[in-house]
Amino acid sequence: MSQSGTGNVGSPDPVAEDERRPSEAAEQVEERPPSPEIDISKPHIARMYDYYLGGKHNYAIDRQTAEQFLKAWPEAPIGARLNRRFLIESVRWLAQEAGIRQFFDIGSGLPTQQNVHEVAQSVAKDSRVVYVDNDPLVRVHADVLLATDPNTIFLTGDLREPEELLGRPELRDHLDLSKPVALLLVAVLQFIEDNQQAYDIVKTLCDALPAGSYLVLSHPLKDESVEQALAVYRRANIGGRSRTEEEIRRFFDGLTPVGCGLARAAEWTPPDGITQSDNVIPLGDPEAFKKMPGMFGIARIDR
Ligand SMILES: C[S@@+](CC[C@H](N)C(=O)[O-])C[C@H]1O[C@@H](n2cnc3c(N)ncnc32)[C@H](O)[C@@H]1O
Repeated sequence: MSQSGTGNVGSPDPVAEDERRPSEAAEQVEERPPSPEIDISKPHIARMYDYYLGGKHNYAIDRQTAEQFLKAWPEAPIGARLNRRFLIESVRWLAQEAGIRQFFDIGSGLPTQQNVHEVAQSVAKDSRVVYVDNDPLVRVHADVLLATDPNTIFLTGDLREPEELLGRPELRDHLDLSKPVALLLVAVLQFIEDNQQAYDIVKTLCDALPAGSYLVLSHPLKDESVEQALAVYRRANIGGRSRTEEEIRRFFDGLTPVGCGLARAAEWTPPDGITQSDNVIPLGDPEAFKKMPGMFGIARIDR
């Protein structure tokens, strides 16, 4: 989940003013985290991603590190919006055309416009969603946003421990794992740096889902600017890596790609070819996003 569209979810907002754009001096405002477990001495992935999307769920340390990242890769905010559009279009297609009613979104991020449960439930009210993230601030916002939605839950958890996640009673109570599920791993696998560990995680999760389930995946593609930008993350002990096209394609081994399959970010289209989210996620200069170094795709689990 990240951004200002649903930023008005209540008291957790870290800044007093409405909207903060990169390079604004937000540091003038004293920032108090909404809970003592929120560490504002170190940058966090979810909060920096929120900053790229123009959101306000971020702190001075996040904005400073994000600004260094943007020096190396100024197009990152367009990449973040393109990624959100992919997520929205995928969920809309899965709910509308593939009849999916269960979504398991790991590395869900902070609440933003058109969160997964909102998109899925706008197609089918009874769609059930489990969000997972390892960032405590995401839980704070999710608790507020989801308080009145019995069909959506949030779990604090780690993608690095897929068996633990799959064994959680809350997950099993909320989703029926004998029925198809859409597993969303959107812009999160880059934080699992070891290739084999990342492939094993995806396989463990997919193996736990029945035939007719889907994997939705996006991943940054190896590229000079992305590498320089990710070096900022590594220096800040956040980690993260890009992968080559071949390395990203391996995530789809044994699965059935749908529509255009795994495609370059700017070339991906929903399997039914209908793009509805342009008005929600304006992408800016089309020339800039044409070169966006990322891959997007949906695959079905058939067995
Ligand atoms: C770049 S954001 C992507 C958010 C959302 N999936 C999207 O595409 O808009 C990555 C998210 O993954 C979360 N994350 C990173 N590593 C994780 C891990 N090992 N387990 C769970 N969440 C993780 C971060 O906290 C962050 O919220």
